Amino acid sequence: MASKSYLEQLNKRRTFAIISHPDAGKTTITEKVLLFGKALQKAGTVKGKKSGQHAKSDWMEMEKERGISVTTSVMQFPYHDHLVNLLDTPGHEDFSEDTYRTLTAVDSCLMVIDSAKGVEARTIKLMEVTRLRDTPIITFMNKLDRDTRDPVELLDEVEEVLKIKCAPITWPIGMGKEFKGVYHLLRDETILYQTGQGHTMQDSRIIKGLDNPELDEAIGSYAQELREVLELVQGASHEFDQQEFLRGELSPVFFGTALGNFGVDHMLDGLVEWAPRPLNRAAAQREVSVEEEKFSGFVFKIQANMDPKHRDRIAFCRIVSGTFEKGMKLFQSRIGKDVRISDALTFMAGDREALDTAYAGDIIGLHNHGSIQIGDTFSEGEMLKFTGIPNFAPELFKRIRLRDPLKQKQLLKGLIQLAEEGAVQVFRPMQNNDLIVGAVGVLQFDVVVARLKAEYKVEAIYEPVNVSTARWIYCDDAKKLDEFKRKAEANLALDGGDNLTYIAPTMVNLSLAQERHPDIKFVQTREH
Ligand code: G4P
Repeated sequence: MASKSYLEQLNKRRTFAIISHPDAGKTTITEKVLLFGKALQKAGTVKGKKSGQHAKSDWMEMEKERGISVTTSVMQFPYHDHLVNLLDTPGHEDFSEDTYRTLTAVDSCLMVIDSAKGVEARTIKLMEVTRLRDTPIITFMNKLDRDTRDPVELLDEVEEVLKIKCAPITWPIGMGKEFKGVYHLLRDETILYQTGQGHTMQDSRIIKGLDNPELDEAIGSYAQELREVLELVQGASHEFDQQEFLRGELSPVFFGTALGNFGVDHMLDGLVEWAPRPLNRAAAQREVSVEEEKFSGFVFKIQANMDPKHRDRIAFCRIVSGTFEKGMKLFQSRIGKDVRISDALTFMAGDREALDTAYAGDIIGLHNHGSIQIGDTFSEGEMLKFTGIPNFAPELFKRIRLRDPLKQKQLLKGLIQLAEEGAVQVFRPMQNNDLIVGAVGVLQFDVVVARLKAEYKVEAIYEPVNVSTARWIYCDDAKKLDEFKRKAEANLALDGGDNLTYIAPTMVNLSLAQERHPDIKFVQTREH
């Protein structure tokens, strides 16, 4: 039985991520959420391609230059009586593996939709990913300060395209310049919108009751319109049901404007009230209950050089069960050894704080000196391996070459460390000294070159290379493996972790190799 104080810590915690199509407003919402969490006194202007200021979650150089979120950062903040962990995810599709892995580390998601655009491509894809674990989804319809689509139509689209029932919790009154606020269906109150309060906490005016004449005074003819629309909406839409929400079948929907800082707090109220506390998770051996007080957790992300001053590599570990205490000895099951963790970190988006205690649901940062890999499980001595952390096969390949050939060692070190993060793979052919970079998206090639320059002081360029796919090689029979190595040497390479891979110029070449060597396993991803 878990102790009362441990259960209190559990029940307080909510760990979530935001999923959205680029430009829907994820960064802006993150800022406002932190503002409400009082983590930031005054939320910065969004990313500031124009203003020169940057959102706190966008702290990598690349992000500043391109105005996109490249990396995942983790933010913890208090909200009312709760403790919220928000895991930021890259919006750009070239970084989707990073996002997919982050989604394995959360218990619920906030889906942000641009109300002028409706459901967009990337949202559809990300929703598919959340379906793998039936993650509960809260929806925020953003940008009500602009001319948007009809709210009923928006809900219909979400239901139809994303196959999830919608239960409106708030309902918008007007839109664009005429946006007046929202009516909260559960609280039976109207919250009025005031413009020009985007950077501060709003002290909104609240009118209790739908039939209150004050409402007619405040918003004129919109009041009567609202009453009529609501009758329709309440008849036609779904009522909120927490069990359905927890099963991922129904989403509570909020309306507002992140830029105007309106409605984000309603969403947060819903999140802490309804979203699940840290959930149990499946390991290959058994299901681990969050109420077990023994520590367990898994690494879902590795990030090199988060802080240029520290020049280190951080492994992000989601705690599945138990309590982490500073100085604790943890068992790393992949290598079967105990490691002492003296200096774990918590994150305030780029600001790092040394950590004494953390609980299930929290993310801790472990210093990685090359021994931690994505997917690794840590425990208090039990052999456990958490499952379901995806790895993706690279689909694009380029040869990378130095401008200054004397820095080969530095280049290799940089590439291997960046490959640890899982976004790119590096391949070293057995028969020559080439270095080949494999990536899932084009943008990652640029990121690698920019980070090599900024973090490892090497200038590299790409050249085309005749590789179109890669497979990781496994074989239990040492003799057969040796024979294969001799025969196929021209196509063999080692990846960043010294794992044997087959790099094929064409799919036909790969099929032929597979036919010729039926005892060899050609695996599309490096198994975590
Ligand atoms: P993302 O992280 O999902 O990609 O979106 P982000 O928050 O960066 O928002 C994308 C654009 O939408 C930004 O404008 C942002 O100011 C704007 N935006 C976000 N929320 C709202 C809202 O509620 N109302 C309105 N009207 N706009 C909103 P931008 O001009 O592309 O950014 P910037 O160039 O000013 O940095």
